[in-house]
Amino acid sequence: MNGTMLVLGIETSCDETAAAVVAREADGSGRILSSVVLSQIEEHAPFGGVVPEIAARAHVEALDAIIARALTEADVSGAQLSAVAATCGPGLQGGLLVGAMTGKAMAFALQKPFLAINHLEAHALTVRLTDGLAFPFLMLLVSGGHTQILLVEGAGRYQRLATTIDDAVGEAFDKVAKLLGLPYPGGPAVEREAKTGNPARFDLPRPMVGRAEPHFSFSGLKTAVRRAAEPLQPLKDVDIADICAGFQAAVAECLADRVKHAFRRAPGGLPLVIAGGVAANQAIRLALDDLASQNDSALYAPPPALCADNGVMIAWAGAERMALGLVDTLDAAVRPRWPLDLAAESARGAGVKA
Ligand code: KG4
Ligand code: ZN
Repeated sequence: MNGTMLVLGIETSCDETAAAVVAREADGSGRILSSVVLSQIEEHAPFGGVVPEIAARAHVEALDAIIARALTEADVSGAQLSAVAATCGPGLQGGLLVGAMTGKAMAFALQKPFLAINHLEAHALTVRLTDGLAFPFLMLLVSGGHTQILLVEGAGRYQRLATTIDDAVGEAFDKVAKLLGLPYPGGPAVEREAKTGNPARFDLPRPMVGRAEPHFSFSGLKTAVRRAAEPLQPLKDVDIADICAGFQAAVAECLADRVKHAFRRAPGGLPLVIAGGVAANQAIRLALDDLASQNDSALYAPPPALCADNGVMIAWAGAERMALGLVDTLDAAVRPRWPLDLAAESARGAGVKA
């Protein structure tokens, strides 16, 4: 395709309503023209987690205005767009339907191609926009719903090397925060507390570390945190800080060990990419940065604002797919479960998180 491609991206898979316009040049470089994100955190906070019905309703109420703002801020009219991209999975069905229906309606009305985007692929491809990174690369995808290591060979070409056999790492952060009485979402709160804590005070386990099996596990660590906290009730500030520091150090070590395992099985010298909400965590980035340099690799991470869910990543994934001619039809289904590597064997217990 010649010239500049302009793609509108719509994201509604979880608790952020987002839209963005991205430009992609024929040489593969990209630019963010606008990015509007409305977080529903305050609506879900009283429940300590995302409530699907509240999320879907909030997307319905907010989406039209968010899209209008994204177009205005980009100074792009609907007619100037090359395509409309919307997240079609994985995620919460109600929210996915809102975004996909809106995106399809716009594509139909404007007579533009529609792109049904996999949210995980969008996280995976963000570094190609921000850093111009070439394929292939190794990716640690760490979010509220997923914890995977993937060999990324191209848009639409993924080999899953590892996944979690129980909780996702972001979910573990959120659950630990909840049991310590910290606000939702837990990740940023735990990271904040951990800054002043002593990571060595509690002897917490490192599930799967050193194992031949490539996968992750976090539920044992979460249970150990609960056992450590129970006898100390009511918790003092210093207890909370020490538990958070210990938990975060354990998570960083587990993630680094599993990536080390993947480095041994992947072609040598591949860049390492970290993506997804948990990739905003500085302690985890540091541990992976060390690991990458020990393996003749380098760590790439999107800026924190592009680690959390956003419309830019959806628009960019759409642009990359469109450049390959991978457009979708208006009957593309939403898929609450949509693994990137359809050929991956199911890991023991990992059915829910595949
Ligand atoms: O990618 P994301 O925004 O949404 C999903 O697709 O799941 O990830 C959200 C997850 C939450 O579990 C949140 O607690 C976690 O990312 N998170 C963090 C940090 N910021 C967000 N976890 C650890 N440290 C952080 N700084
Ligand atoms: Zn996400």
